[in-house]
Amino acid sequence: MTELKSPVVALVPAAGRGVRLGEDQPKAFVDLGGKAMLAHAVDGLLASGVVDRVVVVVPADMIHTVAALLPDGVQVVVGGRERTDSVRAGLDAAPDAELVLVHDAARALTPPDLIRRVVAELRAGSDAVIPVLPVVDTIKTVDGAGVVVGTPNRADLRAVQTPQGFSARVLRDAYEAAGETATDDAGLVERMGQSVRTVAGEPHAFKITTQLDLLLARALVGEGT
Ligand code: CTP
Ligand code: MG
Repeated sequence: MTELKSPVVALVPAAGRGVRLGEDQPKAFVDLGGKAMLAHAVDGLLASGVVDRVVVVVPADMIHTVAALLPDGVQVVVGGRERTDSVRAGLDAAPDAELVLVHDAARALTPPDLIRRVVAELRAGSDAVIPVLPVVDTIKTVDGAGVVVGTPNRADLRAVQTPQGFSARVLRDAYEAAGETATDDAGLVERMGQSVRTVAGEPHAFKITTQLDLLLARALVGEGT
């Protein structure tokens, strides 16, 4: 008898305005080689073959136009002011999920291999999984006046990417307990004392944040990467 696998639902927060990118439309809707960033991100999730359902979270003013950009079957919900509000809206729309991926639309060129690695680690029994890369710059901590107060050992630091994977129970508990906002879902899970595992990230999963990132992303899709 074949074992029934718990369904994987991917939540794609795409409700940010993209202030740092500075385009005249919300960042997730900016074109990359003929396709919106959000559509690239969703296609990558579906191409991984390990995602059963996708829920995208968009700004209220995009709710009617977004469906035309996405494959059939992708669910669309309205996001909130902060990323945590948007992820919460996505979670509410996925009561059936047992395993959840949270994946930034802004990481439009994330390779499907990375998505498979995160899900494989969840299926192996981890409750929280994040993809990470070594940090190339030395990182300093500074005080309010900009004076350096510390230099963490670079070898211990990692830059965090998405998709971040969770058992739905753990992520829901973390969001219930969360009073404040966080830039990263795993951060909320850590605060509950839950351990978070890492898998190897990918340079192509970089977050498109600034114009320099957009230039790089457009060069990559132009090359068919
Ligand atoms: N996001 C969201 N809802 C928000 C804020 C962010 O769904 N209220 C999403 C963004 O659309 C993006 C992801 O979270 O896909 C990562 O956020 P970020 O890169 O910071 O995007 P923006 O918030 O749009 O950009 P900026 O901070 O420069 O305004
Ligand atoms: Mg932001």
